[in-house]
Amino acid sequence: MSDNFTQIFQPNQDENARQAFVGALKRQINANLEKRLATQFDEVCAPDFEQRHGHEPANRDEAREALANDPLYQMWGSLTYTSQDLMWETVGDTVDRTVARLEARAAELEQGEPVGTLTLNPELKMPEPIGSTEIHRQPGGYFFGDKHLTAAALYAGTLMLYTAAKGFSSSSASPFSFVGQSVAKMVEPMLEGRKPLRILDMGCGPGTVTFGLKQHFADSEVHGVDLSASFVRFAHLWAEEAGVPIHYRQADAADTGLEAGSFDLIVSQIMFHETWHDKAPAIFAEARRLLAPGGMMVNIDVPYQPERISLVEQVTNSWQVENNGEPFWTGFADSSVTDMMRNGGFAEDECFARYVAAGPTRDYYVFGARLGTAA
Ligand SMILES: C[S@@+](CC[C@H](N)C(=O)[O-])C[C@H]1O[C@@H](n2cnc3c(N)ncnc32)[C@H](O)[C@@H]1O
Repeated sequence: MSDNFTQIFQPNQDENARQAFVGALKRQINANLEKRLATQFDEVCAPDFEQRHGHEPANRDEAREALANDPLYQMWGSLTYTSQDLMWETVGDTVDRTVARLEARAAELEQGEPVGTLTLNPELKMPEPIGSTEIHRQPGGYFFGDKHLTAAALYAGTLMLYTAAKGFSSSSASPFSFVGQSVAKMVEPMLEGRKPLRILDMGCGPGTVTFGLKQHFADSEVHGVDLSASFVRFAHLWAEEAGVPIHYRQADAADTGLEAGSFDLIVSQIMFHETWHDKAPAIFAEARRLLAPGGMMVNIDVPYQPERISLVEQVTNSWQVENNGEPFWTGFADSSVTDMMRNGGFAEDECFARYVAAGPTRDYYVFGARLGTAA
């Protein structure tokens, strides 16, 4: 028998070393350099701005002006941009070297008797501006090459790089099963004892969360939808390889084509900050249509709402929007998720939004609604 997906899609020794370097470099930039930049802002840039303007920087634009010519800020920008290029180069090496074997293994799996399903929609028109955006500056973007595995492998390769940099092992059947399992553990108490018969993961990508969700809620029927044919095909093949029955579908989360009132739990992870925020109400409306009475939607996303972060973080975040392939980031962070959910048809008292600790220094933004809890 051929090697399986996990065995094929592994960095070799040189790629491993480079990927570990990029992971460590990114950690240095995100943690230590950004901390130093905050001190530089307080001690040098803000006082200098005050001397010129007679008041401290009071908002994101003024803070950006205060930082613009600072050498440390400029070095932060250069290193952030370069480390992203290095990441795509080294993950790209692994993908280029392995993708033909992944496609060959895919062809074998696609001839077998499937335990789950894959529904592709070649007629699906990618919504703009998402369709033509290279998110994270991923070469070709998420939708490049239609169902060819390259786009998904590039994205999955970066997930593997980040998880290895955080010390997680990727040797199990899916390198991401721990992600979905930890989401399941977070969501389960919110269900208050209700067993979810059907679960949907919106914006499921290569099955990052979907796979572990199915492992945790083994008796539930688990579905994943994503716009990218490459991502859902990759997710499907990985699940098939592991014998885990999941139903993947290429669809817009705003128009899934799935049966109304049929899901007890809908989740998403880091989809909303990557979808145009004007589109979010339509996604909430679709979630509302899909939920069974008492069913719950839980979304996990980035906690970058301006009222929670420093001016320096607001500046570095908007730099990422302008320069590093995160065009929808501030649009999401600057919007009220409760307003977006209400615009999607949920009543205000069905909705919730809160910050949940994801470790000693990080939070998730967790928001959603339970259908039918409104007074
Ligand atoms: C950052 S990825 C997250 C993937 C996965 N949930 C994870 O945690 O790795 C965002 C995903 O959302 C998908 N996406 C964005 N807008 C979407 C939409 N309107 N409908 C379906 N999927 C969407 C993208 O194709 C992409 O796979």
